[in-house]
Amino acid sequence: MAPFKLAIIVGSNRKASINRKLAQALAKLGSASFTPHFVQIDDLPMYNQDLEAAAWPQAATRLKSEIEGADAVLVVTPEHNRSIPAVLKNAIDWAARPSGKGVWGGKAAAIIGTSPGGVGTACAQQHLRDILGNQGALVMGGQMFITWKDGLVDDTDAIPNDATRAFLQTFMEKFAGLVGKLAA
Ligand code: FNR
Repeated sequence: MAPFKLAIIVGSNRKASINRKLAQALAKLGSASFTPHFVQIDDLPMYNQDLEAAAWPQAATRLKSEIEGADAVLVVTPEHNRSIPAVLKNAIDWAARPSGKGVWGGKAAAIIGTSPGGVGTACAQQHLRDILGNQGALVMGGQMFITWKDGLVDDTDAIPNDATRAFLQTFMEKFAGLVGKLAA
Protein backbone atom coordinates (compact mmCIF):
# COMPACT_ATOMS: atom_id res chain seq x y z
CA MET A 1 0.00 0.00 0.00
CA ALA A 2 1.25 3.52 -0.81
CA PRO A 3 2.21 5.61 2.21
CA PHE A 4 -0.57 7.74 3.68
CA LYS A 5 -0.40 11.50 3.20
CA LEU A 6 0.19 13.00 6.63
CA ALA A 7 -0.40 16.68 7.35
CA ILE A 8 1.61 17.69 10.42
CA ILE A 9 0.52 20.77 12.33
CA VAL A 10 2.89 22.15 14.96
CA GLY A 11 1.05 24.29 17.50
CA SER A 12 3.97 26.66 17.99
CA ASN A 13 5.20 29.60 15.96
CA ARG A 14 8.53 29.71 17.82
CA LYS A 15 11.64 29.21 15.67
CA ALA A 16 13.34 26.91 18.19
CA SER A 17 10.11 25.06 19.05
CA ILE A 18 10.67 21.80 20.91
CA ASN A 19 7.36 20.58 19.52
CA ARG A 20 8.64 21.15 15.98
CA LYS A 21 11.73 19.12 16.87
CA LEU A 22 9.51 16.33 18.18
CA ALA A 23 7.32 16.57 15.05
CA GLN A 24 10.37 16.23 12.80
CA ALA A 25 11.43 13.15 14.74
CA LEU A 26 7.93 11.65 14.45
CA ALA A 27 7.90 12.32 10.70
CA LYS A 28 11.12 10.36 10.45
CA LEU A 29 9.90 7.51 12.68
CA GLY A 30 6.68 7.21 10.69
CA SER A 31 8.29 7.33 7.26
CA ALA A 32 7.48 3.68 6.45
CA SER A 33 3.76 4.43 6.61
CA PHE A 34 3.42 8.17 6.02
CA THR A 35 4.57 10.83 3.57
CA PRO A 36 4.73 13.89 5.83
CA HIS A 37 3.94 17.48 4.97
CA PHE A 38 4.37 20.30 7.50
CA VAL A 39 1.41 22.67 7.37
CA GLN A 40 2.26 26.33 7.88
CA ILE A 41 -0.03 28.14 10.33
CA ASP A 42 2.00 31.15 11.45
CA ASP A 43 1.05 33.34 8.48
CA LEU A 44 -2.71 33.02 8.95
CA PRO A 45 -4.44 36.26 9.90
CA MET A 46 -6.34 36.29 13.16
CA TYR A 47 -9.70 34.70 12.41
CA ASN A 48 -12.40 37.29 11.81
CA GLN A 49 -15.80 36.36 10.40
CA ASP A 50 -15.83 39.63 8.44
CA LEU A 51 -13.06 38.21 6.24
CA GLU A 52 -15.19 35.25 5.18
CA ALA A 53 -17.37 37.36 2.92
CA ALA A 54 -14.93 40.15 2.09
CA ALA A 55 -11.46 38.75 1.45
CA TRP A 56 -11.00 35.11 2.35
CA PRO A 57 -7.23 34.85 2.95
CA GLN A 58 -5.08 32.83 0.55
CA ALA A 59 -3.25 31.30 3.54
CA ALA A 60 -6.55 29.92 4.84
CA THR A 61 -7.35 28.40 1.42
CA ARG A 62 -3.92 26.75 1.43
CA LEU A 63 -4.44 25.46 4.97
CA LYS A 64 -7.81 23.94 4.13
CA SER A 65 -6.61 22.30 0.96
CA GLU A 66 -3.59 20.78 2.70
CA ILE A 67 -5.76 19.30 5.43
CA GLU A 68 -8.43 18.18 2.98
CA GLY A 69 -5.85 16.49 0.75
CA ALA A 70 -4.26 14.57 3.61
CA ASP A 71 -5.26 11.09 4.72
CA ALA A 72 -4.48 12.03 8.30
CA VAL A 73 -3.46 14.93 10.50
CA LEU A 74 -0.91 14.79 13.30
CA VAL A 75 -1.00 17.71 15.73
CA VAL A 76 2.12 18.22 17.82
CA THR A 77 1.46 20.98 20.28
CA PRO A 78 2.74 22.81 23.30
CA GLU A 79 0.47 23.88 26.12
CA HIS A 80 -0.08 27.57 26.82
CA ASN A 81 -1.70 28.45 30.11
CA ARG A 82 -3.21 24.98 30.41
CA SER A 83 -4.77 25.01 26.95
CA ILE A 84 -3.81 25.04 23.29
CA PRO A 85 -1.78 27.96 21.92
CA ALA A 86 -3.74 30.71 20.19
CA VAL A 87 -1.90 30.12 16.91
CA LEU A 88 -3.22 26.55 16.81
CA LYS A 89 -6.78 27.48 17.74
CA ASN A 90 -6.70 30.13 15.02
CA ALA A 91 -5.71 27.53 12.42
CA ILE A 92 -8.40 25.10 13.59
CA ASP A 93 -11.00 27.85 13.36
CA TRP A 94 -9.99 28.84 9.81
CA ALA A 95 -10.08 25.20 8.70
CA ALA A 96 -13.56 24.83 10.20
CA ARG A 97 -15.03 27.68 8.15
CA PRO A 98 -17.22 28.68 6.39
CA SER A 99 -19.90 26.92 8.38
CA GLY A 100 -20.65 23.55 6.81
CA LYS A 101 -17.57 23.73 4.61
CA GLY A 102 -14.91 22.87 7.16
CA VAL A 103 -12.37 20.15 6.47
CA TRP A 104 -12.17 18.37 9.82
CA GLY A 105 -15.15 16.03 9.43
CA GLY A 106 -14.10 12.37 9.19
CA LYS A 107 -10.40 13.25 9.24
CA ALA A 108 -8.15 10.80 11.06
CA ALA A 109 -6.13 12.69 13.63
CA ALA A 110 -3.64 12.07 16.39
CA ILE A 111 -2.44 14.37 19.14
CA ILE A 112 0.88 14.56 20.94
CA GLY A 113 2.88 17.26 22.64
CA THR A 114 5.96 18.01 24.66
CA SER A 115 6.80 20.40 27.46
CA PRO A 116 9.66 20.70 29.93
CA GLY A 117 7.03 20.07 32.64
CA GLY A 118 6.19 16.53 33.83
CA VAL A 119 2.56 16.34 32.70
CA GLY A 120 2.81 19.41 30.50
CA THR A 121 0.43 19.42 27.53
CA ALA A 122 -2.13 17.17 29.30
CA CYS A 123 -4.71 19.94 29.54
CA ALA A 124 -3.92 21.21 26.05
CA GLN A 125 -4.37 17.73 24.62
CA GLN A 126 -7.69 17.26 26.39
CA HIS A 127 -8.98 20.59 25.08
CA LEU A 128 -7.70 19.81 21.58
CA ARG A 129 -9.40 16.40 21.58
CA ASP A 130 -12.65 18.10 22.46
CA ILE A 131 -12.29 20.83 19.81
CA LEU A 132 -11.34 18.46 16.97
CA GLY A 133 -13.95 15.91 18.08
CA ASN A 134 -16.61 18.57 17.92
CA GLN A 135 -15.56 19.27 14.34
CA GLY A 136 -16.03 15.60 13.51
CA ALA A 137 -12.38 14.60 13.35
CA LEU A 138 -11.68 10.98 14.29
CA VAL A 139 -9.06 11.47 16.97
CA MET A 140 -7.02 8.45 18.03
CA GLY A 141 -7.47 7.49 21.67
CA GLY A 142 -4.74 7.54 24.29
CA GLN A 143 -2.56 10.31 25.60
CA MET A 144 1.06 11.10 24.83
CA PHE A 145 2.73 13.55 27.21
CA ILE A 146 6.40 13.79 26.35
CA THR A 147 8.63 15.48 28.92
CA TRP A 148 11.21 17.46 26.97
CA LYS A 149 14.85 17.08 27.90
CA ASP A 150 17.88 18.35 26.00
CA GLY A 151 19.05 15.64 23.62
CA LEU A 152 15.64 13.95 23.36
CA VAL A 153 15.87 14.63 19.62
CA ASP A 154 19.31 14.99 18.05
CA ASP A 155 20.50 17.21 15.20
CA THR A 156 19.47 14.61 12.62
CA ASP A 157 15.92 14.40 14.04
CA ALA A 158 16.66 10.97 15.47
CA ILE A 159 15.77 9.92 19.04
CA PRO A 160 18.91 8.51 20.69
CA ASN A 161 17.18 6.93 23.70
CA ASP A 162 16.04 3.40 22.78
CA ALA A 163 13.01 3.29 25.08
CA THR A 164 11.73 6.71 24.02
CA ARG A 165 12.27 5.90 20.36
CA ALA A 166 10.39 2.59 20.71
CA PHE A 167 7.54 4.32 22.57
CA LEU A 168 7.16 6.97 19.85
CA GLN A 169 7.57 4.41 17.07
CA THR A 170 4.68 2.42 18.54
CA PHE A 171 2.58 5.60 18.61
CA MET A 172 3.21 6.21 14.89
CA GLU A 173 2.52 2.55 14.03
CA LYS A 174 -0.71 2.61 16.01
CA PHE A 175 -1.75 5.76 14.15
CA ALA A 176 -0.89 4.20 10.79
CA GLY A 177 -3.03 1.20 11.79
CA LEU A 178 -5.99 3.45 12.55
CA VAL A 179 -5.59 5.41 9.30
CA GLY A 180 -5.43 2.12 7.40
CA LYS A 181 -8.63 0.86 9.02
CA LEU A 182 -10.45 4.10 8.24
CA ALA A 183 -9.22 4.04 4.63
CA ALA A 184 -10.32 0.42 4.07
C1 FNR B 1 4.09 28.09 28.49
N1 FNR B 1 4.57 26.85 28.92
C2 FNR B 1 3.70 25.94 29.51
N2 FNR B 1 4.09 24.63 29.72
C3 FNR B 1 3.21 23.75 30.24
O1 FNR B 1 3.56 22.58 30.41
N3 FNR B 1 1.94 24.13 30.59
C4 FNR B 1 1.49 25.41 30.42
O2 FNR B 1 0.36 25.70 30.71
C5 FNR B 1 2.41 26.36 29.86
N4 FNR B 1 2.01 27.65 29.65
C6 FNR B 1 2.79 28.48 28.86
C7 FNR B 1 2.28 29.71 28.44
C8 FNR B 1 3.02 30.50 27.58
C9 FNR B 1 2.45 31.79 27.05
C10 FNR B 1 4.33 30.10 27.19
C11 FNR B 1 5.16 30.95 26.24
C12 FNR B 1 4.85 28.92 27.65
C13 FNR B 1 5.96 26.46 28.68
C14 FNR B 1 6.08 25.71 27.38
O3 FNR B 1 5.89 24.33 27.61
C15 FNR B 1 7.46 25.94 26.77
O4 FNR B 1 7.64 27.32 26.49
C16 FNR B 1 7.66 25.13 25.50
O5 FNR B 1 8.98 25.32 25.04
C17 FNR B 1 6.69 25.56 24.42
O6 FNR B 1 6.79 24.70 23.31
P1 FNR B 1 7.50 25.16 21.95
O7 FNR B 1 6.94 26.48 21.55
O8 FNR B 1 8.99 25.24 22.25
O9 FNR B 1 7.18 24.06 21.00
